[in-house]
Amino acid sequence: MSDTNWTSIILAAGKGTRMKSPLPKVLHPVAGQPMIQRVIKSCMAADIKQIRVVVGYGQNLVNELIKPLGVATYTQEKQLGTADAVTSAKPEEIDGYVLILNGDHPLVFAEDIKSAIRVFKDEKLDLAVVTAKVKNPGTMGRIVRHKDQLKAIVEAKDASGDTLKINEINTGIYLARAEVLQKTLSLVSNQNAQNEYYLTDIISIALASRYKVDAIKLSPRVAHGVNTQMELAKATSYCYKKKVKDLMENGVVVLDPKNTYIEDAVQVGSGSVIYPNVFLKGSTQIGSYSVIESHCFINSTKIGNSVQVRAGSYFEASVIESKATLGPYTRLRPDTFIGEEAHVGNFVEMKKVKFGARAKAGHLTYLGDAEVGEDTNIGCGTITCNYAVDKQKYKTKIGKNVFVGSDTQFVAPVEIGDDAIIGSGSTITKNVPAKSLAVARGKQIIKENYTPKKAQEEE
Ligand code: UD1
Ligand code: CA
Repeated sequence: MSDTNWTSIILAAGKGTRMKSPLPKVLHPVAGQPMIQRVIKSCMAADIKQIRVVVGYGQNLVNELIKPLGVATYTQEKQLGTADAVTSAKPEEIDGYVLILNGDHPLVFAEDIKSAIRVFKDEKLDLAVVTAKVKNPGTMGRIVRHKDQLKAIVEAKDASGDTLKINEINTGIYLARAEVLQKTLSLVSNQNAQNEYYLTDIISIALASRYKVDAIKLSPRVAHGVNTQMELAKATSYCYKKKVKDLMENGVVVLDPKNTYIEDAVQVGSGSVIYPNVFLKGSTQIGSYSVIESHCFINSTKIGNSVQVRAGSYFEASVIESKATLGPYTRLRPDTFIGEEAHVGNFVEMKKVKFGARAKAGHLTYLGDAEVGEDTNIGCGTITCNYAVDKQKYKTKIGKNVFVGSDTQFVAPVEIGDDAIIGSGSTITKNVPAKSLAVARGKQIIKENYTPKKAQEEE
């Protein structure tokens, strides 16, 4: 039995009735990551060798998310209580040590797990419960002590008035020698207010059997369980604040930290400025000295250095090279690439576009399935007609240094050579060779003295 031989059991079979939501509780996202995934990742980051997750309610959905993370899942057929949930994870087949966690405590970090394990080993314990002192103990299990010595955990529903006043509570994290867990679990009964098999009972059972049992106190953050939508929102807000604080400590300028929403995996370089009400999601990366103005929603997009993103822009899975300027109100749909020093202005939408360096599309434009060469200017109101009656998408290729007059439609598939000029209001259906002028619009007709006589007299 080596020191590092830890298996964790994460309890995630409950429905989460108090969430009042059809989604299994542990799938509710906390700052973009389902809470169960956060708990699993914390275990992994704490080098827990094997992770077992107990699933039940909504297990198909839960499994779909967690199986790809490489964890083992065990089904608890009926939700008979937390002790029964642990039994479902076959603790009799575990050697070494067991760490039990609730899937609904998303603010348990790897460093918390590591420090609990350190204390457990230093004190050579057989069983431990992680506790915290909190302001509002609410429905949490109370830690009952006698002359400072841990005696039992009493569930709020079973507690007397005096016990309810105790503010040291059970965080739902336990550490145990596997053998001790197996022995104590088998003695848990369901004689209590909820007729459930309470995992909390293993503490008093182990004490009665004279095992070495103690409470390990950690930060109240660890105790933050999510049972309601309000608790979910608090956990989410904690994660956003923590992320923003980390970024600020690394030189990012955040104008209003409380109203900035940045997910954990996002990277922002020092000297970049984030205005209020910005949402940065997924694998977004932003370089240095870039500015993101208010109300931008940016998902998994890579942005270079000194990029200006003006207010109200929406980007997904795109790449923006350094010194480009975008917005206000630019929309980039997936697979769009914006070259260095390019400019994309108001009410411009792009999808699957390769937009060359220094190219410009300043106003009211839709480009889809297109390539635009360097230094090309796309006039106001340009549209690529990429979707045909056969329900297929077709490409528009526009070369370098092309001048596209305003209100042009490109009916794809179509190619425009380098240095070509397209007259305003054209509907381009045929390829345009390099260096040529294409005009495809109705000719202007003038009919003089056309206004009826009566109207002329009234003038
Ligand atoms: C539990 C503890 C309480 C502790 C609190 C911390 C018990 C009896 N009580 O209370 O002392 O302060 O956690 O948040 O353990 N679950 C299952 N199967 C079940 C029942 C629950 O997998 O049959 C899972 C739930 O999905 C959840 C976790 O176990 O992830 C805790 O269950 P929950 O019902 O939320 O327990 P609490 O009442 O919060
Ligand atoms: Ca809970």
